[in-house]
Amino acid sequence: MVYKLFPITEPDVEKYKALRLTSLKIDPASFSSTYEREIAFTPEIWAQRLASRFKRTFIASVKDEGGISETWVGMISVLGPSELIPATLEPLERAGVGADWDMYFVAGLWVHPEHRGRSLGTRLMKEGLEWVRINMDPKSDSEGKRDRMILLLVGNDNASGGALHQKLGFTNLTSMPPGEGNSYMSLKVA
Ligand SMILES: CC(C)(COP(=O)(O)OP(=O)(O)OC[C@H]1O[C@@H](n2cnc3c(N)ncnc32)[C@H](O)[C@@H]1OP(=O)(O)O)[C@@H](O)C(=O)NCCC(=O)NCCS
Repeated sequence: MVYKLFPITEPDVEKYKALRLTSLKIDPASFSSTYEREIAFTPEIWAQRLASRFKRTFIASVKDEGGISETWVGMISVLGPSELIPATLEPLERAGVGADWDMYFVAGLWVHPEHRGRSLGTRLMKEGLEWVRINMDPKSDSEGKRDRMILLLVGNDNASGGALHQKLGFTNLTSMPPGEGNSYMSLKVA
């Protein structure tokens, strides 16, 4: 099968919404958000997810045998410092973690079960990491003196997610106290 990875923007919002809701329905234990919460989102909230230059969502798609129709089968979102909301930052600030970092977050990594084990999760994550490397966020330190760190939350029972992140160099963020059911991992961007 031939897969394609690409970034999306606001005009793709309906397909994005459908894929995100599918991921929450199929793998509720893998995410801190829920299907019930996001199905109630207004069109504005969905559009906002794709609106900023300082966060980016990448999609993995596959073409059917005839190469005519294309189905979206995976996704990842990456958020720059400008897009991190207080709810995301608060637990870190409380623990005194990250004040001297340019902090990025990876969220929503998901591959449809029928397409797992074919490196799509790895490819999506690499796409996100590359975006962080080249992204110029207004809140970033222009002199490059601060460490650029990518954080994510992974469920303590999520063996495949944890293994994927480790393979790409993420390590447990030991300065954060273990959360309820999930833990932070981090990667310093070279
Ligand atoms: C995690 C997920 C994105 C992996 O997607 P994928 O396309 O299957 O991943 P890859 O094929 O790139 O595999 C990458 C690595 O993950 C690990 N992995 C994948 N499936 C695994 C499994 N069932 N058990 C243990 N490790 C697994 C392996 O280390 C693998 O590397 P390897 O192939 O060199 O052994 C996918 O399983 C998924 O969507 N899960 C539900 C949502 C989720 O957990 N998201 C992450 C939240 S932090």
